[in-house]
Formats: sequence, C-alpha cells, structure tokens
Amino acid sequence: EQIEKGGYDHFMLKEIYEQPSAISDTFRGRMRVSDGIIKMAGIDDNLAKLLNAKRIIIIACGTSWHAGLVAEYIFEELVRLPVEVEYASEFRYRNPVIHQDDVVIAISQSGETADTMAAIKLAKEKGAFVFGVCNVVGSSISRETHAGAYTHAGPEIGVASTKAFTTQITILSLIALKLAERKGTISNSDFHYYLQELERIPEKVKVALESDNHIKHIADTYKNARNFLYLGRGYNFPVALEGALKLKEISYIHAEGYPAAEMKHGPIALIDDQMPVVVIATKKGHYDKVVSNIQEIKSRKGKIIGIVTEGDSTVKELADHVIEIPETEEFLTPLLTTIPLQLLSYHIAVMLDKNVDQPRNLAKSVTVE
Ligand code: G6P
Repeated sequence: EQIEKGGYDHFMLKEIYEQPSAISDTFRGRMRVSDGIIKMAGIDDNLAKLLNAKRIIIIACGTSWHAGLVAEYIFEELVRLPVEVEYASEFRYRNPVIHQDDVVIAISQSGETADTMAAIKLAKEKGAFVFGVCNVVGSSISRETHAGAYTHAGPEIGVASTKAFTTQITILSLIALKLAERKGTISNSDFHYYLQELERIPEKVKVALESDNHIKHIADTYKNARNFLYLGRGYNFPVALEGALKLKEISYIHAEGYPAAEMKHGPIALIDDQMPVVVIATKKGHYDKVVSNIQEIKSRKGKIIGIVTEGDSTVKELADHVIEIPETEEFLTPLLTTIPLQLLSYHIAVMLDKNVDQPRNLAKSVTVE
C-alpha cells in the first residue's frame, strides 16, 4: 500500500496532487488547440441528438452532483440550453417529466452508484437519450448508458472524491465547448481562446498546489472549530458546497455551503467570532457583491478565509487569511478554487487524527439505495 501511495501519506493527498496530470489525461487526444478541434467519439457519433436537445437533465449523487451543478452554469452560459440538475435519488422517485428531445447526462466516478443507475433506467424507459460521464472503465453505468465519455482520472482510492470532481468538470467543459461551437452560441475567437485557457489549467493547478504549506497553517488555526461556513457565487457556489462536503466527510466538522447572497436569509445569524467562513471571492465572479458579504461577516467578527485571484488587495485587507489562485476564464475557475478547499479539509482531518482515506460510515461506491 505504501508503494501505491507513491510517497504520500494518504491516497487523498496523492490524488489531490495528481490533478494536473489527471486533467491533462482527460483532455489529451480530445482537443487540438492549434486547429481548434474537439474530438470525442461519444459526442461525435451522437451529435445530431445532442445538438437538437431542448433541455439537459443532469443526474448524479454526492461530489458528482456538485460537478453537475458546475456544468449547469457552464452549459447555460456557453450552449444557451436549459439545464436541470437532480439528485438521482430524488429524480427516480417522483415521476419526472422527461421528453424525447431531452438529453440526460449521468455523472458517476465509480459507475456503480445504485441511485444513479436506477435513475438512468427510468430516463431510458421514458425515451430520453442518456449520456454517461464515468471514471471507471467498463463500469455498470458506462454500459447502461447510450453513449458516454470517460474522465480518465485513473483510480481514485480515497473515499473523499478529489480528482474525479475536477476531471468531471473538465470533460463537461469540453462537451459544452464542442456543442457551443457547433451551435454558434460562442464566437470562433472565444472558442479558440477557451481551448487555450483549458490547456493551461494543469499548470495553474500546480501553482494552486503551491499554497499547501500556507493552507496547513490555516488548518492548524481552525482545526478545533465546531462549524464552518463556505460561501461562493455563480460558478463557485457549487465549489462552496463541495468544500463543505469535503470537510464534513473526513474531519466530521459540521460545515455548510451556501450561495453567498443567501447568507442574509439565515446563515448570517450563526456568525460570531467562533465561526470560520471560507469565501470564494475570485475577481470575475460577482466580486464586488462577494466583497460586501465579506464586510458583513467581518462586522460580526467571523473569521474570514478568502480564496482570491493572484494579486488581489481588497479582500486581503478585510480577510484574516487569503489563499491565492491564478487567474483564468470565469467558467474554469472551479478547477482552481476547489484545490485549496481540498487541501484545507485534508490537513484539518490529518491534524484531528481522522481516517482520511476511509472515513467512518462512508463508502467509495454506494451500491445500495
Ligand atoms: C459516495 C462517495 C462520494 C461520491 C458519491 C457518488 O458517497 O463517497 O465520494 O461522490 O458516492 O459516487 P459516484 O461514484 O456515483 O460518483
């Protein structure tokens, strides 16, 4: 096992550090940036079906559901298609309205999640075209779906999902870009620029990983907190949910993710000098609004950990700590803002002496309802 961990203390840490190469592996062979080409068999073979879709319904569980939420923002922005994201377990039990021209995208790292599988069968029965995004090759879900694309993240052993999440977002971005280019919902020059920017993401993830030691110090400061709040807006709202989920899963600290603007409708009541609040406040996503949320947290003495774009000075002045990530195109920021949140939960769990790779009560793949 020590050999499999490749010198890292835990599989989770190894998998966090594998993200630059896992993301490259996901797009390698599928995009040629110089000629502006995206080639994906599962998409190319079913292009008419996908281009004629009136709606996309995404079904998934857990972290994969969070990737689906990020994809909702990406598809709506780039492809201008309505998207619904559903917990597979809810979808399957409520007689959902599905039309023949709906495309259902099922996302699953393991490809074995029982609820997702049941939701796929239901969607197929109702006549929808079902596309799978799985990591495990030959898994049940990859066989049950009409077509699909693998994330190629390599085996993910740690129960808390990390590289599966970022590679799911990568593949969903590629799909959205391909459809957007074909439908003409983005300009040619934007298409080329976005491909270049996607190609630069692995290098930028490496830069984000360089904050590891700094994050360790922050983890040490807050490891005994009883609650954490995570806030983000737009593309980074699902990242806030994912950051909170990571902390809950492996450190057993209660954490909630919230859209930053909803803070005033509830969570603000919880803020006092004992409450660490992780705020994703990158330059492009409603930055000024998020800065005012930070001011509100500060005036209630909450402890602020800001995830900011390199060179930010406004949040730095207000926050107790900031963690910088490189700048990128807005729809790609989740691939970077996720990294410090993974590391924060990892270090807290290690400091609290928890079983990071196999947290209590959780399983890597949930094959029962
Ligand atoms: C379990 C795992 C999570 C995962 C979820 C969905 O709860 O512990 O990490 O996100 O199942 O799994 P899937 O394999 O379908 O992505």
